[in-house]
Amino acid sequence: MSSTSAKRDSRRILVTHALPYANGPLHLGHMVGYIQADIWVRFQRMCGNDVSFVAGEDAHGTPIMLAAEKAGVTPEQFIAGIKASHEADFRDFGVHHDYYHSTHSAENKALVEDIYRKLKSKNYIVEREVEQAFDPAKQMFLPDRYVKGECPKCGTKDQYGDNCENCGATYSARELKNPYSTLSGAAPEWKASAHFFFALPKLQAEVDSWIDRADINNGVKAKLREWTKAEGGLRDWDISRDAPYFGFEIPDQPGKYFYVWLDAPIGYFASLKAYCESEAGKARGLDFDKFIGDENYAEMWHFIGKDIVNFHGLFWPAMLKGSGLREPTGLAVNGYLTVDGAKMSKSRGTFIKARTYLDAGLNPEYLRYYFAAKLGSGVDDIDLNLEDFVARVNSDIVGKYVNIASRCAKLIHDRFDGYLASTVDLLDSDFVVAQPQAYRIVQQTYEARNFAGVIRHVMDILGLCNEALHRKEPWTKIKEAGQAELDSDVHKILTSALNVFRLATIYLSPILPQLGRRVESFLDLNRQFTWTDAAAPLTGHRINHYIPLATRIDSAHIKVMVENSKEDLAPSVQKNAASAVLKPLADMNDAESHLKTPAQPKSSLPTPLASAAASTISIDDFNKIELRIAKIENAESVEGADKLLRLTLDVGELGKRQVFAGIKSAYAPDALIGRLTVVVANLAPRKMRFGMSEGMVMAASEPDGKPFLLSPDSGATPGMRVK
Ligand code: 2FM
Ligand code: ZN
Repeated sequence: MSSTSAKRDSRRILVTHALPYANGPLHLGHMVGYIQADIWVRFQRMCGNDVSFVAGEDAHGTPIMLAAEKAGVTPEQFIAGIKASHEADFRDFGVHHDYYHSTHSAENKALVEDIYRKLKSKNYIVEREVEQAFDPAKQMFLPDRYVKGECPKCGTKDQYGDNCENCGATYSARELKNPYSTLSGAAPEWKASAHFFFALPKLQAEVDSWIDRADINNGVKAKLREWTKAEGGLRDWDISRDAPYFGFEIPDQPGKYFYVWLDAPIGYFASLKAYCESEAGKARGLDFDKFIGDENYAEMWHFIGKDIVNFHGLFWPAMLKGSGLREPTGLAVNGYLTVDGAKMSKSRGTFIKARTYLDAGLNPEYLRYYFAAKLGSGVDDIDLNLEDFVARVNSDIVGKYVNIASRCAKLIHDRFDGYLASTVDLLDSDFVVAQPQAYRIVQQTYEARNFAGVIRHVMDILGLCNEALHRKEPWTKIKEAGQAELDSDVHKILTSALNVFRLATIYLSPILPQLGRRVESFLDLNRQFTWTDAAAPLTGHRINHYIPLATRIDSAHIKVMVENSKEDLAPSVQKNAASAVLKPLADMNDAESHLKTPAQPKSSLPTPLASAAASTISIDDFNKIELRIAKIENAESVEGADKLLRLTLDVGELGKRQVFAGIKSAYAPDALIGRLTVVVANLAPRKMRFGMSEGMVMAASEPDGKPFLLSPDSGATPGMRVK
């Protein structure tokens, strides 16, 4: 399908990636698919295609409901906090959506109900009793993962209700001996309840036909066909859950909720709808109804991990077909991420959160580059080998790529006033690899999402360019040659090399967008590269002086990242040492400042505390501030005070506190009740016109800007020390 549409001059494309669950921080495994989608989107835009890239939070389900309960906040408050953290991670890794929404949104509710009603009207929804484990203490039905017990075959304790980790036996949860609820410890009861099913078998032929037509990796297609053919084909799919559940209630079925996986993919459309109705979407003239109703209007691509292929390759097309909507054009499926050849592990420090990577002072574009270098068109797992990561980035990006620019730009300025020669010899045998027509091949390679292939090509041309420079030695010639020779030879060599560098930048721009912007400014282009820029060289143009474009990775940063990822790390010297060096490194998180900053001298890396500048405080100074988690028990306006709210805080062992906070402009009192925040607990009480203020709640803001109250991650409880 993509090859047909590729023939049109400009394509309209909807791109989504798997929506992250709103129950915890993003880790590097998540980032693979998000970065892959973002690279493809940026590439398509460089080709002039009209792309809408949307995503959002997957906000429903039992785990999120329970996590919110544990955090002592409402699910709405809980998912809002997680959304903010996910958005920050996306922003800092350069994953730029046109719209980032949530499945817990008005748009999604309306779309889910509409699709459900259409499926129901066509008799695709059937009702049946299901017997399920029920926790009498929590008064809720238990999803399988919350029931454990002894293996019925070998008696091993604490086994899940599907198979035994010890003897490998498979069985149903009902067969477990001495079963218990992992939520309350109570023995589950078995109770029947009415459930609603989506009758997938009725759409078997349509799903089969979509699988044949859709643009999907052959291995994945084979797997989908295996599933549709297995044991007589598709089976009815249970799309309902009983209260209590965080989700959307099924119309006319009080106490019954849509299962999270029913509303999750519809969330793609909810985000698209919100985008189409936004000012930016309207300015682009996007038509939501056509997007979802007419496959000739736009392509629709979902970037997903291989673990959720069944939902996207069976259930989702069936839902779409069954409700009269268009089906996806294709699925871009990625494999799992391993770190140092093994599953990510908390004890080894290889279960790395996106934020931990950034906080270690590592450049997010380097991870984009490394992932891209490993992402072919297939669904193979990719390995982040930490040693190889450092070596490869240093050798490819710094050694082979930006070095060309730094060496040639200096000579161009020293001897040619910054001007490139008026002609260039890209067809000279030394630069033949950079000949303009090659960009079409690179384009096809990108189109097929074979980013590893793109990077191989780029490294090949850079390698040949470096060899040619080495042989031709313009730096030696420039000292010896007369003006005529310079004009005809050295100038052309330097210009050719800078053009190979420029071509590599165009090719790498979707992968290294920030770096691409820096190069545009170094080359004084005043606009962003487009794909067709690769077709013609840059000549007779004055470039700017070289600006540092990339710095080497020091493996000390990797050590900090790994140490800070170890879950069982005690608050030891190591942890403190790590934080002591993190501040100067964390300042480099902003990719732009990262690129502006020349390589940190090694001595400024982990030499904790030795050179504490006057502007820093010691850890002892910091420890004097007693930060605690507080639960806002009550919040109310203060008569006669425009900006203040009176908060009653529960600070655990420190008891209750009254605090006046200048946050009224940003928060309705009711929205604050029940949420957790951070309070300075040992601030001297202050007598105010309205009463005593016994502490200070912490909020972020621009100078004179709207305040954003801090929230802890789930698991924190009132009174906990914040360090
Ligand atoms: O597997 C997951 O992480 C899901 N939250 C993905 C949902 S993708 C889409 F269907 F919403
Ligand atoms: Zn067993």
